[in-house]
Amino acid sequence: MDIRIKLLLVLVFIHVWLASGQNQDIVYLQALMDNWKNTPPSWVGSDPCDKWDGVTCTDSRVTSITLASINLSGELSGDIGQLSELQMLDLSYNKDLTGSLTSDIGNLKKLKSLILVGCGFNGPLPEALGSLPELSYLALNFNGFTGRIPPSLGKLTKLYWLDIADNKLSGSMPISNGTTPGLDLLVNAKHFHFGRNQLSGEIPPNLFSSKMTLKHVLFEDNQLTGTIPLTLGLVQTLEVLRLDRNVLRGDVPSNINNLTLINQLFLSNNKLNGLLPNLTGMAVLNYLMMQETGLRGEVPVEVFSIPQIETVVLRDNQLNGTLDVGPSYSNHLQLVDMSNNKISAFTQRSGYPADLILTDNPICTNSNTRESYCDHPTESNSTYSTSPNNCIPETCGLYQTSSPNCACSYPYTGTLVFRAPSFSDLGNATIYTSLQSSMMSSFESHKLPVDSVSLGDPTKNADDYLKLTLSIFPADDDRFNRSGITRIAFMLSNQTYKPPHGFGPYFFIADNYDFFSGAAKRKSKSMSIGVIIGVSVGGCILVLLLIIAGIYAYRQKERAERATIKNSPFASWDPDKGSGGRPQLKGARSFTFEELKACTNNFSAAANVGSGGYGMGGLEFKTEIELLSRVHHKNLVSLVGFCFDAGEQMLVYEYIVNGTLKDSLSGRTGIRLDWMRRLKITLGAARGLQYLHELADPPIIHRDVKSTNILLDERLNAKVSDFGLSKPLGEGDQTHVTTQVKGTMEAMDTGKDLYNLREVLDPLLSLSSEQLQGLERFVDVALRCVHETGNRRPKMSEVVKEIENIMEMAGMNPDAESTSTSESYEGKSKGNNHPYLNDFSYSGGLLPADLEAK
Ligand SMILES: *[C@@H]1O[C@H](CO)[C@@H](O)[C@H](O)[C@H]1NC(C)=O
Ligand SMILES: *[C@@H]1O[C@H](CO)[C@@H](O)[C@H](O)[C@H]1NC(C)=O
Ligand SMILES: *[C@@H]1O[C@H](CO)[C@@H](O)[C@H](O)[C@H]1NC(C)=O
Ligand SMILES: *[C@@H]1O[C@H](CO)[C@@H](O)[C@H](O)[C@H]1NC(C)=O
Ligand SMILES: *[C@@H]1O[C@H](CO)[C@@H](O)[C@H](O)[C@H]1NC(C)=O
Ligand SMILES: *[C@@H]1O[C@H](CO)[C@@H](O)[C@H](O)[C@H]1NC(C)=O
Ligand SMILES: *[C@@H]1O[C@H](CO)[C@@H](O)[C@H](O)[C@H]1NC(C)=O
Ligand SMILES: *[C@@H]1O[C@H](CO)[C@@H](O)[C@H](O)[C@H]1NC(C)=O
Ligand SMILES: *[C@@H]1O[C@H](CO)[C@@H](O)[C@H](O)[C@H]1NC(C)=O
Repeated sequence: MDIRIKLLLVLVFIHVWLASGQNQDIVYLQALMDNWKNTPPSWVGSDPCDKWDGVTCTDSRVTSITLASINLSGELSGDIGQLSELQMLDLSYNKDLTGSLTSDIGNLKKLKSLILVGCGFNGPLPEALGSLPELSYLALNFNGFTGRIPPSLGKLTKLYWLDIADNKLSGSMPISNGTTPGLDLLVNAKHFHFGRNQLSGEIPPNLFSSKMTLKHVLFEDNQLTGTIPLTLGLVQTLEVLRLDRNVLRGDVPSNINNLTLINQLFLSNNKLNGLLPNLTGMAVLNYLMMQETGLRGEVPVEVFSIPQIETVVLRDNQLNGTLDVGPSYSNHLQLVDMSNNKISAFTQRSGYPADLILTDNPICTNSNTRESYCDHPTESNSTYSTSPNNCIPETCGLYQTSSPNCACSYPYTGTLVFRAPSFSDLGNATIYTSLQSSMMSSFESHKLPVDSVSLGDPTKNADDYLKLTLSIFPADDDRFNRSGITRIAFMLSNQTYKPPHGFGPYFFIADNYDFFSGAAKRKSKSMSIGVIIGVSVGGCILVLLLIIAGIYAYRQKERAERATIKNSPFASWDPDKGSGGRPQLKGARSFTFEELKACTNNFSAAANVGSGGYGMGGLEFKTEIELLSRVHHKNLVSLVGFCFDAGEQMLVYEYIVNGTLKDSLSGRTGIRLDWMRRLKITLGAARGLQYLHELADPPIIHRDVKSTNILLDERLNAKVSDFGLSKPLGEGDQTHVTTQVKGTMEAMDTGKDLYNLREVLDPLLSLSSEQLQGLERFVDVALRCVHETGNRRPKMSEVVKEIENIMEMAGMNPDAESTSTSESYEGKSKGNNHPYLNDFSYSGGLLPADLEAK
């Protein structure tokens, strides 16, 4: 075909990214990365399934993201909702991960585990959490979440673990009522960890039933009122019950004695005012805490002969009469703390437990007894710390620590917290050594690069949690790499590690790990200079095509080793022969280098508006043009063809006659844009973006929407350009285009006419007498579009709908084709008298208006 191509125009510098047809998830991971700092250096390239730390794929789709403890900061954007095959998300221990939890999370229909322990999330828990039908593990503890527990959680029929402790949640616990769901429907849940929030109201009696299979009910340290519901006695599976540190009143219901599997019972710090309940049915009760609850009457002797009982703390009550621990108290009994009661006598039969405390009772205050139970106990924290393993500790460098095996290294550290431990004697080293060895064998069986673990500084805090410092030392090297850290962190965040009996429920909060190895970034892909030019294709067949060509010249030395002609996907592809390997193109043709060279006047410098680094392998280029050629929409600039020849890569786009929207807004083209025309252009651009977001397969996120990337055709229809190409591949994250919106909106008064914006409006609009109908609604939608958090921004389909509504309200048909061409919009202002013209510096290159003038 004899095509005469001549250089006409330079338009814009392309700086966008396009979805690789190979892996549709890359677009959304890139969008997530835009909102994150400190993503792993291995997160480069276009295939997340290729050695990205923390990413696991099945059939080229991302199924698991575990990025715990890597100092990730920023927000979790709504793009997460697009990773439709995701089953596991663990972002724990990244305390600079903030913002609200996006409701787009509800789109992850395959998600099984959502683990966000110890991050900085805040705001309400989204209702959408209830639309995750596969969810079985939900751990949101140790964040700043506020608001109510969403009733929708009751729809999570597979939920096994629900941990929302250590937040600022308030309100009452939601119960189902036939129309709305509630927590009572979670009959498969084993763990309700709601402690240390601001929950209030009564514990709803309907929350519990004999259908429930709960093992741990942890409601401690809230503001719950009312009485302990009778129905609690129906949950026969209960092992740990913590209702302490609330404002519960009344008697402890007697059927609590039916809970035969209870190990640990915490009812302290309430306003209970009954007698000590009969607990002898709790055959395996080990730990009983009922301090400061208003208990009165005598302590029944039977409680001390429960076979496993080890700790009985009943201090600060109104207990009276005579204390009798019986002739045959349990031989496990260690601590009986009855201080500050009204006990006036003690029946001594055959001795008493070593740790019996009766200080501040009449028996001690009213007499001069010398019995040790009247001595104030000397409280001391245990000083336990793991000792060296038959070796002499090394003297280590700054920040290094000598491991139990006496090697200097940089351990992964944090705090291990047990919420209902059964030990009262923190000085007994046996408990720590058993914990240590069970951890080690768990790490070993999961093939984690751990040399040893050490524990130290056991303390109990005001909530009776047992806290320990934990240090995990690396094997192989003196430090962990990111994949090592995230895998170890996952063992703890996902409760894969189970501590020995007696420790009860736990959580771990990691310190920042400052010493990652493996800075060995993967070799960055070859860089090349991209030159973007526009050319017009003249000739008999193509009537008027101005094309923008992107030229990717591969220049770096690395290229020789990486992108040899041999492994190029185009190597076997001769455009004239149509052999295999040919890209699957829909309506795009190929140009030779010579053709484009001729049409661009040897790629003359006069044609350049910018240049920059690109890295794109042949396969990526092929995937890209295949994808671009499939995108067809009247509000998108079409791909005409491409050139993959002589070591160059270029894209040739359709010529759009009226240039960029910016040129018209600035008055350079002489086209006058009235309010209705502007609405129509906005609608066109929005429809183009809607197509890219919601209809293109895979979806494409533009990432650089601006007035220079919206072109106007001869009827002033908007055409979005530069979707597809992207930020440079293979570079670090410092060049990321961000989806965050910058700037502030001040001085706007929504109470006034036109929101009091007349002053800042384009004089062409505000000086005209025409009605700016719908301007307020338009500003509203625009503001929503630039909302700080992604999930508060409307979907493009909503934007399209709203602009259509505004146009209809203003009496204009959004779908009417303009019959007039641009000439009829070229008002008297053509030329130099546009009010804004001087504000724009002329950036070189020929413009349509100039061409016409010539
Ligand atoms: C169920 O509860 C919801 C929310 O608490 C309430 O709006 C609704 O009216 C209730 N329905 C019935 C039938 O009580
Ligand atoms: C639970 O306890 C109550 C009274 O305390 C008793 O009547 C009832 O039979 C017990 N239920 C079961 C299932 O043991
Ligand atoms: C306490 O409960 C046990 C078992 O449920 C029962 O055998 C015993 O009689 C009860 N004791 C009193 C004083 O009610
Ligand atoms: C113990 O307290 C109960 C209730 O407060 C009271 O009825 C009883 O008389 C007291 N017993 C003694 C020995 O003071
Ligand atoms: C035990 O440790 C805790 C936490 O470090 C501290 O608050 C408390 O004062 C210590 N108690 C004693 C007796 O040293
Ligand atoms: C320490 O704890 C272990 C296990 O809990 C127990 O068997 C042992 O008797 C305890 N030792 C002392 C001295 O209390
Ligand atoms: C990270 O460390 C593990 C074990 O030490 C090692 O097997 C793996 O290759 C390392 N990964 C990288 C990317 O260096
Ligand atoms: C931890 O994660 C694995 C998946 O990797 C899952 O099979 C397991 O059930 C999880 N553990 C818990 C306690 O949920
Ligand atoms: C963690 O991230 C913050 C902010 O992104 C940074 O200032 C800090 O240096 C990072 N710390 C480490 C240990 O990487």
